[in-house]
Amino acid sequence: MSDPIDHNKVVVLTGAGISAESGLPTFRDMGGLWEQYEITEVASPQAWEANPQLVLDFYNERRTKAVAALPNAAHQALAELESRYEVVVITQNVDDLHERGGSTNVIHVHGELVKARSTADASLLYEMGGKEIQLGDLCEQGAQLRPHIVWFGEAIHNFDVAARHVSSAGKVLVVGTSLSVYPAAGLLTKAQASAEKLIVSPDLESEPVAFHWIKGTAVEHVPQIVNRWLEE
Ligand code: OAD
Repeated sequence: MSDPIDHNKVVVLTGAGISAESGLPTFRDMGGLWEQYEITEVASPQAWEANPQLVLDFYNERRTKAVAALPNAAHQALAELESRYEVVVITQNVDDLHERGGSTNVIHVHGELVKARSTADASLLYEMGGKEIQLGDLCEQGAQLRPHIVWFGEAIHNFDVAARHVSSAGKVLVVGTSLSVYPAAGLLTKAQASAEKLIVSPDLESEPVAFHWIKGTAVEHVPQIVNRWLEE
């Protein structure tokens, strides 16, 4: 049984594309991160086992760049929606640009760069801000700290909570994701038939079923969509 639809609820599902105009590279576009790095060498438990320094270097650089970046007009517009709707942002991004853009209800399904966690106890989280994680940085139990990031082969965070939000939303807006990484990409299928469903992206391999594709960038289109919804 799905939850009843709530027409005052907007769920926004975002990916790397929403932060592209803040200067942070996406993963799969030309010049994207996965062209410069082998995923398996920096973003997997095996990589951490084989070469933790390389993994820390990769995420320390990501953290430094993310902390220096600023939220753009798309992040900021989403925060404005909160004046009229219950808004839940479900993001695959590990930056904190939604929070700094003013959104107050953000679910990170792939983790967060500004946090470190214990390799001995996943419930022990530490705020890093922009600080690097080094080999030898230990949790209170004496175990090495690692990035609070979901690596390939690891379970994503908060999936069930995220899926319930999508299934009760009157409006679902997808921004800047290639929808190529599951199970996060599968969250779209939880949207109800009668929900308004939009996807903003300059490119898409295939249009997800029942979503209306608005072709262009996040900064070009998200503020307009938000303004229209605020006027409804
Ligand atoms: P991708 O790099 O796979 O896809 C980015 C999408 O954003 C593409 O569809 C682009 O066309 C689109 N895009 C580029 N510039 C844009 C702009 N200015 N405005 C709007 N859209 C734009 O990134 P994700 O889908 O987020 O996971 O990748 C999903 C996951 O794969 C990431 O969370 C990461 C990665 O491996 C982990 O690290 C666990």
